[in-house]
Amino acid sequence: MSKRYTITAALPYTNGPIHIGHLAGVYVPADIYSRYLRLTGNDVAFICGSDEHGVPITIKAKKEGVTPQDIVDKYHAIIKQSFIDFGITFDNYSRTTAKIHHDTAQEFFKTLYDKNEFVEEVTEQLYDEEANQFLADRFVTGTCPKCGNEEAYGDQCESCGSSLNATDLINPKSAITGNVPSLKETKHWFLPLNKHEDFLREWILKGHKKDWKPNVYGQVKSWIDDGLRPRAVTRDLDWGIPVPVEGGEGKVLYVWFDAPIGYISSTKEWAAREGKNWEDYWKDEDTKLVHFIGKDNIVFHCIIFPSMLKAEGSYILPENVPANEFLNLEGQKLSTSKNWAVWLPDYLIDFPNQQDVLRYALTANAPESKDNDFTWKDFQARNNNELVAIFGNFINRVVVLTNKYYDGIIPTPSDYSTIDEETLAAVKAYPAVISSSIERYRFREASQELMNLARLGNKYLADEEPWKTFKTDEARTKTVMFVALQIASALAVLSEPFLPFTSTKLKGILNSNDNGWEDVSTKDILIPASHQIGKGELLFSKIEDSEIQIQLDKLEASKKANEAEKKATEPQKDEITFEDFTKLDLRVGTIIEAEKMPKTKKLLVLKVDTGIDTRTIVSGIAESFSPEDVIGKRVTVLVNLAPRALRGVESQGMILMTEDETGKLVFVNPDTSTALSTGIEGVKNGLQIS
Ligand code: MF3
Ligand code: ZN
Repeated sequence: MSKRYTITAALPYTNGPIHIGHLAGVYVPADIYSRYLRLTGNDVAFICGSDEHGVPITIKAKKEGVTPQDIVDKYHAIIKQSFIDFGITFDNYSRTTAKIHHDTAQEFFKTLYDKNEFVEEVTEQLYDEEANQFLADRFVTGTCPKCGNEEAYGDQCESCGSSLNATDLINPKSAITGNVPSLKETKHWFLPLNKHEDFLREWILKGHKKDWKPNVYGQVKSWIDDGLRPRAVTRDLDWGIPVPVEGGEGKVLYVWFDAPIGYISSTKEWAAREGKNWEDYWKDEDTKLVHFIGKDNIVFHCIIFPSMLKAEGSYILPENVPANEFLNLEGQKLSTSKNWAVWLPDYLIDFPNQQDVLRYALTANAPESKDNDFTWKDFQARNNNELVAIFGNFINRVVVLTNKYYDGIIPTPSDYSTIDEETLAAVKAYPAVISSSIERYRFREASQELMNLARLGNKYLADEEPWKTFKTDEARTKTVMFVALQIASALAVLSEPFLPFTSTKLKGILNSNDNGWEDVSTKDILIPASHQIGKGELLFSKIEDSEIQIQLDKLEASKKANEAEKKATEPQKDEITFEDFTKLDLRVGTIIEAEKMPKTKKLLVLKVDTGIDTRTIVSGIAESFSPEDVIGKRVTVLVNLAPRALRGVESQGMILMTEDETGKLVFVNPDTSTALSTGIEGVKNGLQIS
């Protein structure tokens, strides 16, 4: 049954081009899903646009000495082009600086304001005296109170995914000047998420959301269980959408308030152009709304935006939010600032016309249920061993033999053998198998099923050996080639969501594109006898080791540049007096117990005998040391550090750590001569927060 779908893909920030992580996590799966739904006859609005407000854009503009508008104009154009280049079939790609978006977001805010859905409050917010500016979101970094990550942002910790308020950060630091912020009063409007807790609990936990991906459901459940707090939806900034109510002068909407409304304004823009009614796609209970996002966006799409939609009152809520985990690159987190990425425009320069290879490699290895690693070797193997050796090889043999034996005219088959019958029946089963995977958002699995169909074709040819029977049995050869051509036609149709460029090429070669998804399972003949096909053209070509080496060399160069920069940018801190130093009460202690803090990556909970007492210290070293490594270790302990709670455990002190020459985290160990000789001078600003 045909349905109406509104499919959204996270609006990318326009502060840089997009890279393979974005493609793998959001845009390729969303595109596969949308293409598939269209192919199966549904009414689809696939919506996206550029997210052009927010702090990272202002920071970038400042750094480059240009205006934020210059930045977003530049990257909006680059990003939009990348999506076209990679065959991402948005029905509309808008931008949040568009007038229609400003109007829509302001109207949305006004509606909630008039309905008394906000709490207006004067609170103390972080302020940078030197920059003369309030600090929120990415303007401030500090230690996450939940997991101890020292690089958490004012609105979110990327390590544990927690959504934060800037004032929650421990040791906050201005991203503009590096200064320690002061507090200053200012008025803002808050969305009282606590007020929506019951609804969210009902909707997500008790509703039908059990079919959501476990990673998404689990995160949302734990936030709700932790208790929700009001969240400011306005900011003291000058880049953004002006707050449209009295008292809002000089303030703008919080970027995460305006951006998801971008889905709505982009839909409006599209509907106006296409003569449709946008409300059908946002306000009709029969429409399915699906958000494709990365895992760092879960809280915004599963808690905040639904609360906004619910508070407004006339909108539907998402049916599903199939968030992906993260893609790493060669074992390291993708990073724009560290240039540890494969940028889409660069990829196309090095691998022209090979968009499908990247789409396929990223889908086959997508971070669907856990973080995954992209390696150039895997990319090469996916291409050479699957696309070239299986899919391409099958098509090539079929096309070349049909041209060679029959001048490209599809021969008339005789009676089918059992193998033929079984093979054709197996082909007919594929649409349902692939559909089932796609409908459950299992795109990796779906891509492998597609490859299995190509395998089936290869095996059929290898078993039936038309190149041998050609000399002995003309009728049999014709039948085998006819069957093989049916498989090739099925591949042309079913590959479309995954390998759209290849699908188009293949349809061109077969000179046929009138089959739909369902036809593959219902029609006995997809491509008839006497039909003329075109000449062969290679669908894929082998990627050589040398091409892969070039990519690995590029990454190596980034690594070197980062190391050089790190050395250059960590100057010695300000001088302190001897009196300052004597304030530190350092003791030699022994770690007597250690265990991992549940649900964190970085934290160990330690019991330390300090000589004066035994106390609990939470230390952010779990990525470098396992509990077994540290039990029994003698360590230097700062015992008079004010206690503080991390994940509900009170930490009563700090274990001193530093980095050695190679950047490895090491204990400032009272037993070794290095520690003694370097003493406290060896402890640099990397003093590991414990
Ligand atoms: N720009 C955000 C990011 O890249 C995503 C915004 S999604 C939307 O993480 F819902 F706000 F549009
Ligand atoms: Zn955290």
